[in-house]
Amino acid sequence: MVDSLVAAAREAQERAYAPYSRYRVGAAVEAEDGTIYTGCNVENASYGLTLCAERVALGTAMTAGARGFLRIAVVSSSEPPASPCGGCRQVLAELAPNAEVIAVGPLSEARWMVADLLPHAFSSDHLA
Ligand code: THU
Repeated sequence: MVDSLVAAAREAQERAYAPYSRYRVGAAVEAEDGTIYTGCNVENASYGLTLCAERVALGTAMTAGARGFLRIAVVSSSEPPASPCGGCRQVLAELAPNAEVIAVGPLSEARWMVADLLPHAFSSDHLA
């Protein structure tokens, strides 16, 4: 299960569009029914418009109608493995609050729960 998720994230990493940073990221998110959705980072000459792999994967999953995510694998070239950026943590906190994050580098992997990566997250509760 986790192996196929990581394999999907690796495949997505190969499709990264990262001509500016040369830092390629692939992500794969697993929905409750076991379906896997992938994303890669998509950069832009207007750097700030860059899309992170995690958010592309979540957007792809949401577009397909998936809800309730169990885990997300993120593959990069970082060692120790890179954890999701702050923006992705915020989006994960909303869409995948109970998910496990599996970060994979060339030599090792690390795992965290989304809730531990972003304690005290801003949420819709604050909008009331
Ligand atoms: N990046 C991701 O795809 N996910 C993260 O969580 C952190 C950063 C991408 C964005 C950019 O294309 C490159 O990595 C360098 O920041």
